[in-house]
Amino acid sequence: MARRTVVVMPGDGIGKVVAPEALRVLEAAGFEADWIEADIGWDLWIREGNPLPDRTVELIDRHKVALFGAITSKPKDAAARELAPELRDKGLVYYSPIVGLRQRFDLDVSIRPCITFPGNPLNFIRRGPGGTVEEPRVNAVVFRQNTEGLYGGVEWTNPPDQVWDALNTHPKFKAFREVPREDLAVSTRILTRAKCRRIIEEGFAYADRHGYTNVTVCEKPNVIRETSGMMLAEAHKVHERFPHIQLWDTNIDAQMMWLTKNPEDYGVVVASNMFGDIISDGFAGLVGGLGFAASANIGRDVGIFEPTHGSAPKYAELEPSIVNPIAMVLSAVLMLEWLGEAACAERIRTAVAAVVAEGRVRTYDMLKLRGGAQAIAQGAATTSQMTDAIIEKL
Ligand code: NAI
Ligand code: MG
Repeated sequence: MARRTVVVMPGDGIGKVVAPEALRVLEAAGFEADWIEADIGWDLWIREGNPLPDRTVELIDRHKVALFGAITSKPKDAAARELAPELRDKGLVYYSPIVGLRQRFDLDVSIRPCITFPGNPLNFIRRGPGGTVEEPRVNAVVFRQNTEGLYGGVEWTNPPDQVWDALNTHPKFKAFREVPREDLAVSTRILTRAKCRRIIEEGFAYADRHGYTNVTVCEKPNVIRETSGMMLAEAHKVHERFPHIQLWDTNIDAQMMWLTKNPEDYGVVVASNMFGDIISDGFAGLVGGLGFAASANIGRDVGIFEPTHGSAPKYAELEPSIVNPIAMVLSAVLMLEWLGEAACAERIRTAVAAVVAEGRVRTYDMLKLRGGAQAIAQGAATTSQMTDAIIEKL
């Protein structure tokens, strides 16, 4: 295995707890790397007025691969109030550094596998015929367009003249014409054909490589005709190159409703930014929730890997920590796959599966306990005990 350099951004709160645990697992699995720790998050915002310092961006630019824990984000006004006194009133505006990284490095493909680990008490179960209980094996991989759409950041409250004038050219804007400008908030949903095509191509190629038999485009083209319509049109074009894979399309709202009916039927699911965010959380809820949800942010030459969960401030200071490190460990597994270390990735996934199946070591979320120091006395494993158990299986 070639020695790598990986940028590690623990971030805030439990990001600082779970990131080092993932490194322990990687090292135990024989993945050799130089870890370069980089600054990101709330502390940096407060101290420097920038949650994503240039030095961090430069490190990622140089090394191309990073692990990210989690950051704390707060709304604009709350963020401005917490700035160091000397930085206040300078017009600094807080923005999410992970959204910033996705845009800075054009990490336009987000991959979120949602796969059942047998034996996880958090697995979705369903009542079958005659009062039986079924535990369907979910094996869905969500491909979320990661840079455009509703999270593109092109938005205004009290839109300026040119924007208002432009909106006015649309007949449907008539309904808003009399609203005072300061009472008007506009967030755009801009999609480009190239990015629609890329997320769909990546989804199909992944399905092809990993033997999935269907790709579902999850949008709302009957209402959001232009943008969702473009996604679906591109999906039909790309599908021509993958005739052996079925193309399904569902509406995001209906998909959420049906999620608990037949989740095992879905393979690869492709969606634009916000719908991908929603549907990936939906599927993640069926396979263990935030303690298990991992994600990859992938561009042309940079990959950043992170658990879906945030900084969980309630548990950040708990000593010993009780949060589940598996989401972070599985994010590291996605990094290994991206680096071409498939065998090492598989060993770690198998070790996690073995710990879950055995059921001897379970964090508080897996035991469905209320979080807090008392969970340990109630039988919950600490964060590091879970990591130790995974390493033992390795
Ligand atoms: P959160 O994901 O931090 O935590 C919500 C709850 O989920 C926790 O209180 C805990 O009960 C559970 N949880 C989360 N991670 C867990 C783990 N590894 N093991 C066991 N249980 C876990 O979301 P919340 O509370 O809405 O946000 C807290 C902060 O995190 C906010 O400032 C938010 O903006 C930020 N955030 C950052 C994200 C990121 O860095 N990508 C993503 C989501 C939220
Ligand atoms: Mg989310």
